[in-house]
Amino acid sequence: MLPYFPFGQQFNDKMGTFPLLESDRLVEVDEHYPAVIALKRKLLTALPTYYYQAQSGYETAQWEVVKLIVENLVQFYPTSFSLRQEGNRWYWLNLRLNEETTFTFGDKQTLPYDPLDWLGRQVQEDLVLLAGDDARLVAGQLCFGNDWSLDEKIGLPFWQIHAPIVSIVEPMMRAAQQLMTRLPVGRPVWRLNWSVKVSDQLDMTSRHKPSLDQLLREKLPYLTSETIGEQLYLRIERQTLTRLPLSGAVLFSIRTYQSLLAHEASDPERASRMASVFSTTPPAMIAYKSMTDFLPALLAYLGKTCRK
Ligand code: HEM
Repeated sequence: MLPYFPFGQQFNDKMGTFPLLESDRLVEVDEHYPAVIALKRKLLTALPTYYYQAQSGYETAQWEVVKLIVENLVQFYPTSFSLRQEGNRWYWLNLRLNEETTFTFGDKQTLPYDPLDWLGRQVQEDLVLLAGDDARLVAGQLCFGNDWSLDEKIGLPFWQIHAPIVSIVEPMMRAAQQLMTRLPVGRPVWRLNWSVKVSDQLDMTSRHKPSLDQLLREKLPYLTSETIGEQLYLRIERQTLTRLPLSGAVLFSIRTYQSLLAHEASDPERASRMASVFSTTPPAMIAYKSMTDFLPALLAYLGKTCRK
């Protein structure tokens, strides 16, 4: 079952952010860790500049992210990761992968990749940096983007990253814009996002859009209220936002979880909550999430499942 389930009584048009407490993990490690890290590294080797991009001038922010996340990993997963520091010399031990990295904190020549690019290869999350008054996307390692890629968004301010904005969520996006510019240091937040997909491939960056659209077209005639549960996947993003104290940049982390629809719907409570949210989501948002064509079958399926 998904560890997070962002479905309540109806479609939520609010930002849905919660404080990320000191007792909350910033990044999460689960049983898929080795496979996901291997996949990320494969993608980054094949298309390095598609999955990692950075503007110059944000090196301090990149190192701040390294410090924040490796310390968080050691705090929450002490049997999997360890860090020894001798002055600026850092000895990083990743016991999950049996790898050791020694580097000089603050000197990127001592790492095999840019600090953010190196760190992204240690965690299951995608990592994005935003900076400046208008929260521009200045760097990121994005392997599992849901229908977007760094090529399309690098350098863009928060508002344009989201353009065109579905009008129903415009007030929410104004609040989010304010949050991005005013988020205080030491007060990180998290939120969840959801979508329903025809595939459970993690990498849904824009380059896969044609093949995923094609897959949906092929599957569509077979998506009936009888079959749809075994054909679709729920895709949940756990997103965090953290203001970095020295650079003032914001770290945006995205962790993607997915699960077969039938698996989640086997819990009648979950089936009923999904039905409530999908049936109250405005049509423009359903269209934005590419759910229009299968929504009737989906609702019929969930209706039957909750009555069982
Ligand atoms: C509190 C903060 C945020 C809120 C409330 C928010 C909200 C949303 C909403 C409502 C959507 C529409 C799709 C959906 O719901 O599935 C969306 C899409 C998206 N968001 Fe955010 N978001 C936030 C932060 C960010 C940040 C920091 C980034 C930085 C890269 C970002 C990047 C995107 C992208 C790339 C999309 C897809 C846009 C497209 O279709 O091209 N979001 N976001």
